[in-house]
Amino acid sequence: MLMKADTIHQAGSQYPERHVLLEQEGAVRKSLVLGCGGYLPERIVTNDELATRIDTSDAWIRKRTGIRQRHIAAEGELTSDLAVAACRPALERAGIDAEEIDLIVLATSTPDNTFPATATKVQAQLGIKRAIAFDVQAVCSGFIYALSVADNMIRLGQAQTALVVGAEVFSRILDWEDRGTCVLFGDGAGALVLRGGMSDAGSSGRGVLSTHLFTDGSHYDSLYVDGGPSTTGKSGYLRMAGQEVYRHAVHNMAEAIEIAIEANGLSLSDIDLLVPHQANIRIIESISRRLGVDNEKVVITVGSQANTSAATIPLALTNAQNNDRIQPGHLVALSALGGGFAWGSSLIRW
Ligand code: ACO
Repeated sequence: MLMKADTIHQAGSQYPERHVLLEQEGAVRKSLVLGCGGYLPERIVTNDELATRIDTSDAWIRKRTGIRQRHIAAEGELTSDLAVAACRPALERAGIDAEEIDLIVLATSTPDNTFPATATKVQAQLGIKRAIAFDVQAVCSGFIYALSVADNMIRLGQAQTALVVGAEVFSRILDWEDRGTCVLFGDGAGALVLRGGMSDAGSSGRGVLSTHLFTDGSHYDSLYVDGGPSTTGKSGYLRMAGQEVYRHAVHNMAEAIEIAIEANGLSLSDIDLLVPHQANIRIIESISRRLGVDNEKVVITVGSQANTSAATIPLALTNAQNNDRIQPGHLVALSALGGGFAWGSSLIRW
């Protein structure tokens, strides 16, 4: 009988020593999905409302991006508030108490404060006493980066039950006079609950099958915020070379999924649900065309939510979950690209 177990010690931590089984008779420890949840601020801003403030039109925005409206956080409503509001339904759907969480990885580019991590505020507001909580920053691909970190920590036994969160208030870093960018984004948050457990080794076993991450910092200036603690001391505004981002998004997001499919010994026709980052309907359609994934297998929320950066994927997963579009055993493919450029993909057997 093949068995591999590790004892995890966290020096000086408040955790008791934990014995974790990593492998046993054709099964391995994986991160199993327990459920997800999302939150969108109450206030909806339509394209027509934007057109009263800047030189744009509903027709232009819809034609170029597919976006009809976006949700905008209320004054005083923070990234942490959105995150907490997304974590609560995620925990409810997962059927667990907040105190069972021992890891929070929160992806955001719009933290409440420069430090500490917004994840620590989420931890406190959820009343979680014993957990590791920190932020990751990979802009629009932040959720996949956070998922990768949480999945690796769970698979190694360093954590057992994780909240993986994407939460953003991009409305606070937009130049509302720049029609080329301000029409594209919205605010929101989504969260996924993962738990370590034994699962069949191989791609038919449930759990996170893989995460593939890529970064090319030579594109730093194609999509960035023109401020920050070490440059201007102010948080700054988003700047973007739209067409450059567009080209890379289509190619890199599709390629990241092809790489993941091949690495898992699967074929593109095995994908039951494609959940791409929601930036622009034309990007999503180009990717699904290239991958040969039928429209009914693609989750699309960009029209009603716009681009919520790190939150688009968990929000889209929540949308699919709540509409019964994801069933146990489904192969779900995620992909995103954002500033950096940083991009990546993940395959999850739900
Ligand atoms: N309303 C009306 N006209 C506009 C608007 C607007 N909101 N924005 C730009 N225009 C004008 C431009 O000024 C330009 O006018 P001109 O020809 O007189 O100079 C014209 O429309 C065309 O502008 P382009 O920038 O060339 O338009 P394009 O077809 O490239 O569309 C867009 C712009 C929608 C931003 C596109 O490049 C895009 O979607 N890029 C991807 C960027 C993206 O989604 N970024 C999100 C962050 S990264 C990510 O999540 C993947």
